[in-house]
Amino acid sequence: MDFGKLIPRNYKAELRKAVRGKGIYLYDDEDREYIDGCCGALISSLGHGNEEVAKAVYDQLLTLEFAHPSRWKNDATLEAAEEVASIAPGDLKNVWFVSGGSEAIESALKLARQYFVERDGKGSGKTTFIARWNSYHGSTIGTMGLAGSMARRREFTPLFQESPKIPPHYCYRCPYDMTCPSCELKCATALEDEIQRIGPERVIAFVAEPVVGSTVGALNPPEGYWQRIREICTKYDVLLIADEVMTGIGRTGKAFCVDHWDVVPEIICSAKAMASGYSPAGGILVSQKLVDVLKGGSGAFQHGHTYNANPASAAAITATIRIMKRDGLFENAMKRGEQLMAGLKDMMDLPIVGDVRGLGLMRGIEIVANKDTKEPFPPSIKAAALVTSCCMDQGLVIYPGTGMINGVAGDQFLIAPPLIVTEAQIDDILKKLRAGLEEACVRLKP
Ligand SMILES: Cc1ncc(COP(=O)(O)O)c(C=O)c1O
Repeated sequence: MDFGKLIPRNYKAELRKAVRGKGIYLYDDEDREYIDGCCGALISSLGHGNEEVAKAVYDQLLTLEFAHPSRWKNDATLEAAEEVASIAPGDLKNVWFVSGGSEAIESALKLARQYFVERDGKGSGKTTFIARWNSYHGSTIGTMGLAGSMARRREFTPLFQESPKIPPHYCYRCPYDMTCPSCELKCATALEDEIQRIGPERVIAFVAEPVVGSTVGALNPPEGYWQRIREICTKYDVLLIADEVMTGIGRTGKAFCVDHWDVVPEIICSAKAMASGYSPAGGILVSQKLVDVLKGGSGAFQHGHTYNANPASAAAITATIRIMKRDGLFENAMKRGEQLMAGLKDMMDLPIVGDVRGLGLMRGIEIVANKDTKEPFPPSIKAAALVTSCCMDQGLVIYPGTGMINGVAGDQFLIAPPLIVTEAQIDDILKKLRAGLEEACVRLKP
């Protein structure tokens, strides 16, 4: 395929050309219509071609496109911080803006470390982050050490520091071979064991996605999991960092996913839907406790990027959140998410649909070769890619992922349409998805 001078994600990929978008739809260069059933990677939550957000960014670009954050403050970012704070849980009313998810996680890691250095002195022994297998926190050298898609990080392991990891709450394939609730949340108490093993005086924070996204396919936690994690972190003076890069800004039916359980972490990382794809944007929401130590100490966060506190991205963030609040899109995500889930459960009659899961408009399907034994397809068959291609032929875009069982085997995909989706459009998504899956069943038959 000819990419001209552009270095693409994959020179060998056969990509259709996207030329325009409107609402939940994308159009290719033959004017074929596709439902954006995954918002790219859970980004375009307001859908495509939103004139209000586009105008807000345009107006901001004409007024002030850039003024370096080390020498200037600007109204656009002050306003965006107010807007983010208006939907933030607990005391997470302090916001640091960046350009995307990996930068948000990097910022959170550095701020968390700096907090302990400023609080306890330069000799603070707190140097370790704990994360989970089957998580994705970004593609930078720093974030890859936390976890990530094995296929994407394997070749780079000598370059980064590997964080200790606990197993995820993968109830469909419980790492402890137990069932909930009789397991008494062994996967959550694993955090306590890990903190004890390392020594609480060495642990800075636990980092996790509230609903695990791209690496497992919308893995929602069992009842009580996040509350238990919060208790453990508090008990051992370990910070809790929620990676809400995918789950944040209404995706799961609440402003932030931790709101479902009334859990307040010390830091929430957000990106993707924060500006709904209209400008590169991300941020961290930080608790007063951390900000007070910083303000009373050095006063300066030892971190920064050129596009930190960028006015155009800030305008996109403010407009996005205002529209979401005004149009009741968090509530819509909850309602339409339940409708979507009911339809996905009906698809359990298909021989390759092993599990359906998720929360709000962040749903996932795990594909298996044998439903009774949960045996996956051999990785060489590329089952997730085949299902994606079958759905694409139906005019539905989904987000595939692999390797969640042992880093190699396992196929799943995310289905996460824009939060503006209507009842009739969900019905249409379900119709196209069933047709795509039925075709995949035929092509995957042994
Ligand atoms: C949960 C999670 N964290 C972090 C990231 C990294 O975000 P970005 O690709 O914007 O750097 C992603 C991206 O998919 C993500 O899903």
